[in-house]
Amino acid sequence: MMKYAPIAAIFFPALATAFLTPVPAKQQVRMMAATMAPHKTDKSSAVFEEAKNIMPGGVSSPVRAFKSVGGNPIVFDKVKGAYAWDVDGNKYIDYVGSWGPAIVGHADDEVLKVLNEVMEKGTSFGAPSVYENTLAKMVIDAVPSVEMVRFTNSGTEACMGMLRLVRAFTKREKVIKFDGCYHGHADGFLVQAGSGVATLGLPDSPGVPQGSTAGTLVAEYNNLANVEQLLKEHEVAAVILEPVVGNSGFIVPDKSFLEGLRKLTTQYGALLVFDEVMTGFRISYGGAQQYFGVTPDVTTMGKVIGGGLPVGAYGGRKDIMETVAPAGPMYQAGTLSGNPLAMTAGIKTLEILKRPGAYEKLDRLTERLITGILKEGKAAGHAICGGHVSGMFGFFFTEGPVRCFADAAKSDTAKFAKWHRGMLEHGVYLAPSQYEAGFMSLAHTEADVDATIAAAKEVFKTL
Ligand SMILES: Cc1ncc(COP(=O)(O)O)c(C=O)c1O
Repeated sequence: MMKYAPIAAIFFPALATAFLTPVPAKQQVRMMAATMAPHKTDKSSAVFEEAKNIMPGGVSSPVRAFKSVGGNPIVFDKVKGAYAWDVDGNKYIDYVGSWGPAIVGHADDEVLKVLNEVMEKGTSFGAPSVYENTLAKMVIDAVPSVEMVRFTNSGTEACMGMLRLVRAFTKREKVIKFDGCYHGHADGFLVQAGSGVATLGLPDSPGVPQGSTAGTLVAEYNNLANVEQLLKEHEVAAVILEPVVGNSGFIVPDKSFLEGLRKLTTQYGALLVFDEVMTGFRISYGGAQQYFGVTPDVTTMGKVIGGGLPVGAYGGRKDIMETVAPAGPMYQAGTLSGNPLAMTAGIKTLEILKRPGAYEKLDRLTERLITGILKEGKAAGHAICGGHVSGMFGFFFTEGPVRCFADAAKSDTAKFAKWHRGMLEHGVYLAPSQYEAGFMSLAHTEADVDATIAAAKEVFKTL
């Protein structure tokens, strides 16, 4: 019964909460250096050793295992604002933000307050609630393509529902996705799916029946001619893409590519789907579709709209969405879908994001960060390229430009692995894969960013 009791004993009852108030960059670097030396990971390693025997690979989601960067993962104890603390007591400036949801900062006080209030009423109703209406109206008001929305519990579920929907609505079976784009782990999408899959070097996954991917065609990102060729050769239900890629590292679309997809899909009777699980309410309040001025037919969302609780959603034109049960015949359901806690965290998060200056701040800080990193990387003699759109960023250890997954794959991943560990040791937590994007939050400060650039300068010298 007490088989795992010893591991619980290694946790500190309380960890330091210093540095929560902004301090000048130089002072922060000194403070980080003070906490940084030595970067102890004994407790993280102990927890992970135990985890490996009780969960596959020791994790609940593959990229967290640090396989592509080597070394053991860091085991978190708590998060607040722009920071994460691990079980050894190390503090990090965090640019993963729980893989995107923490856009207003981790465990934001306002979000926690409303969550506590609503929790008193219950955690799950399994029945309609006003919280769903409120969040649905906010999403519909914000996202140009969305006239009706269905909530789910994850981005994967949203993408599974969307896939069934586009096939049901068009009565066609084939879909076009893009090399390196990830749309969750449903069978039909596990073809050249970027991030976790690319990180582990798996072209796709065993266990996916051939029949499930037979209808999935793959095109090269930013290559309109490739898409047109496929549309000519096949009856296609939908063209589905990440409108800004975050799962092959960070790749920006040509505006003309998005505009061209809009024209081509209309011409060939296919639906255009933006998977905005990552970009929704991050690139702008109306997502990538508002930022680039291209409106798809269907949109998937997740991450930010759940404010750190499990959520997903798909939405689009009313005539399309009314295909979904019980309004229409296409079945999709969920026990915890639309639960009051996820809805509440989403509502408060969107309220905060809607305040004047939020996206300007994300953009300003992210630009400062990526400009600084690229400058220091080049100054240290590395081949490096990258960029940002609003609060989403990334860079590659290659000359570039990176316009598709094949370009991203030229990056020096061994160098990235060293960089990643170096940054950890300097108190900066970045995604443990070259094929992931980084995320800024409203809780980050200029001092955090400058401290990160100062750390990057030191680490670049060691690669
Ligand atoms: C673009 C995109 N779509 C879908 C998903 C799947 O979402 P989830 O991890 O919530 O299932 C992700 C996850 O990172 C994503 O980035």
